Amino acid sequence: MITPVLLCGGSGTRLWPLSRKSYPKQFAPLIGDKTLFQASAERLSGAGYGAPVVVTNSDFRFIVTEQLLGAAIDPGAILIEPEGRNTAPAVLAAAFHVAATEGPDALMLVAPSDHVVPDADAFRAAVDSGTEAAKSGQLVTFGITPTHPETGYGYLELEGKPKGIEVAALKSFVEKPDAEKAAELVADGRHLWNAGIFLFRAKDIIAAFEAHAPALLEPVREAYENAQADLGFLRLVPAAWSKADDISIDYAVMEKAANLSVVPFAAGWSDLGGWDAVWRESGPDGDGVATSGHATAIECHDTLLRSESDQLEVVGIGLDNIIAVAMPDAVLIADKSRAQDVKKAVAALKAKS
Ligand code: GDD
Ligand code: MG
Repeated sequence: MITPVLLCGGSGTRLWPLSRKSYPKQFAPLIGDKTLFQASAERLSGAGYGAPVVVTNSDFRFIVTEQLLGAAIDPGAILIEPEGRNTAPAVLAAAFHVAATEGPDALMLVAPSDHVVPDADAFRAAVDSGTEAAKSGQLVTFGITPTHPETGYGYLELEGKPKGIEVAALKSFVEKPDAEKAAELVADGRHLWNAGIFLFRAKDIIAAFEAHAPALLEPVREAYENAQADLGFLRLVPAAWSKADDISIDYAVMEKAANLSVVPFAAGWSDLGGWDAVWRESGPDGDGVATSGHATAIECHDTLLRSESDQLEVVGIGLDNIIAVAMPDAVLIADKSRAQDVKKAVAALKAKS
């Protein structure tokens, strides 16, 4: 049995104004009628999967329970972080929990809750093909064929070119290279993008933290072992938690570990890192137009129009390469090629308020 661990902590500012600090993108129905969080939980349910462990913060705890209920999924545990310290402490706390409740040999599948993976069966098949490696002590990653030199991802270096969906040993892991390095890695054909999804035994990831990020061990152990049970949530201890370094699992462990494997995954994956990705994943029509909610496009091209408000009818005429997203209290209008700059807009708004 595999215990899913859903990480649910980011605020997704590049999808403003739909994604807010208090209601980030994973809880909004971005594609279809389920939220990304619900879809992620469902993808990792059914035969072979145990109840999920969700790691989130206090602000999201009721949205998490409500959405799990909506998807008819019973959580195994909901761990509440006193503050976001990035993914390394979150994964380590989950590993302590899985080891304590399921035993140190239990397999855990760590997954973000804000990705789109349209073919859930293909994804579970990829997980299956990684389980033997994980049972033998490997930290298993999932690799996506890169399409462009993205600097926001990790890169997985194979010995040679990937062969089908066979699990392969990794030579190295490079997190978020600069643009020049990313172009080099994409060009050599031996690198895959890291999907940000990991499969390992609880004891192996704890051992990897011991070896590569030992300073995290005691604060996170203390925060977990003294956690307070509160209305079905497990609250990690703030004083101990605040001593844990703020670092991602990619930098803390993956870049350093030698026991890494990869399962190449080709069935479709997107981390919806911006409105351009939402446009691509929304199934634009022959003119490249995607609309949703109260939105109408007339003679537009390569454009995304959305209105999330019953009170706001959005109409685009003759637009080319535009993103327009209307919420009841905010409207974004942007050149699609500037989708990544939405993050800057949010920072500017924050500075103003
Ligand atoms: N609980 C919790 N606490 N979750 C967190 C925290 C935290 O402090 N910080 C981030 N997360 C969650 C996010 O909500 C997201 O679901 C997941 O962990 C990954 O964090 P991101 O911040 O989105 O990471 P990234 O996108 O920059 O990079 C990772 O994903 C890429 C693929 O999308 C890395 O693993 C890259 O190597 C990878 O390519
Ligand atoms: Mg991400």
